[in-house]
Amino acid sequence: MTERKVVLSLVRATGRLHLGNYLGAARDFAELSRDETKECYFGVADLHALTTLPDPQELAASSRAVARDYLAAGIDPERASLFLQSAVPETSELFWLLTNVTAAGELQRSKTFKEMSAKQADNVNAGLLNYPILMAADILGPEADLVPVGEDQLAHLEMARNIAQRFNHRYGELLKTPEGYRKKAIRIPGLDGKGKMSKSDGNGFGIADSPEDIWKVLQPAYTDPARKRRTDPGNPEICPIGQIHRFVSPPADVETIETGCRTAGIGCVDCKKILLGNVTELLAPVRERAQALDDAAVDDALRQGAARARKRIQPTLAKVRKAMGL
Ligand code: TRP
Ligand code: SF4
Repeated sequence: MTERKVVLSLVRATGRLHLGNYLGAARDFAELSRDETKECYFGVADLHALTTLPDPQELAASSRAVARDYLAAGIDPERASLFLQSAVPETSELFWLLTNVTAAGELQRSKTFKEMSAKQADNVNAGLLNYPILMAADILGPEADLVPVGEDQLAHLEMARNIAQRFNHRYGELLKTPEGYRKKAIRIPGLDGKGKMSKSDGNGFGIADSPEDIWKVLQPAYTDPARKRRTDPGNPEICPIGQIHRFVSPPADVETIETGCRTAGIGCVDCKKILLGNVTELLAPVRERAQALDDAAVDDALRQGAARARKRIQPTLAKVRKAMGL
C-alpha cells in the first residue's frame, strides 16, 4: 500500500462555523475525510484562542460547538481524526522545543502579530508573538504533507517551513517541510455590509441554524442603500445578499435576482426569501446531521481523534527530543 498523504488543518475555536467556513473549508474537509488516499487530522485550536483572552466558559463551549459543526458538515470521525489542540499535549512540548530554532525577529516582524497587537493594545501577550511557533508544532508534529489554509495563514505556513528548515539544518533532516495547499478563496460578505462574514463580528449565521434563525439575520441584513423605495433600482454587486446568491443559488435564480434588482423588478424582501430557500436547501444535510449528534457523540469523536493524533505525533517528538540531547 502506498503511503497516504497526511492532511492537517486547525481552526481557531471562536464562535460557530458560518457559511464562509463551510464553503471555503469544512465542506472540502468532509470530502477529504472520505478520500482513500488521504489521512486527515482536523483540529480545533483552543490553545491559539487563548491569545485573545476568551472567557473560560465561552472557550469550552465554543471549542465543542466548532467540533460539532465540523461533524455536522460531514467530516467522518472514523476516517479523519478530529481533536482539540489542548488534548494533544505533545504539541505543546514540541512548541517549546521549536521556540529555540525560531528567530525572534521573524516573529516580531509578522504582520499578524502587528495587527493583533494593535487590535488588543492592552493585552500584547507573548502568546500573540509565539502564535506561529505553536502553529508550526501543530503542522510538524504529525508530519503533515498538505496543510489547507486560507490566504491569511500563508505567512504562518511559510514560518512553519522556515522553522523546520532551521531545525533540520542544526539537528539533521528530521522534520518534514509541509506543502501549502491553498484553500479556495471564498469570501462570503458579512450581512452588515462591512467586510467578510466572520465568526467574531456576528454578521452571519451558523451552518446548522434553523431556517427561522437564518431569516432573523437575513431579514434585517444590509442591502444596496440606493434602493430606498421598492421602485428604486439597485446594484446586486455591491449588496451582500446579491453576492451570496452567486455562491449558493442556481444560475437561473442569480439571473432573476440580478436583473430584478437592476430594474426594480424584485423587492429586497423577495430577493432575501429566494436566498433563504437556497441556503436552507444547501445546508439541509448539515442541519440533519447536527440534529442527530448528541454531546456523547461529539465527545467520543474528539477522544478518538485526540488519541490518534497523539499517536501520530509521539514518534516525531521522540526523534526531536533525542536529536536535541534530551
Ligand atoms: N492559525 C490558524 C487560523 O487562525 C489556525 C491554525 C492553528 C492552523 N494551527 C494550525 C491552521 C495548523 C493550519 C494548520 O486560522
Ligand atoms: Fe440586494 Fe437583492 Fe435588494 Fe438587490 S434586490 S439590493 S441584490 S437584496
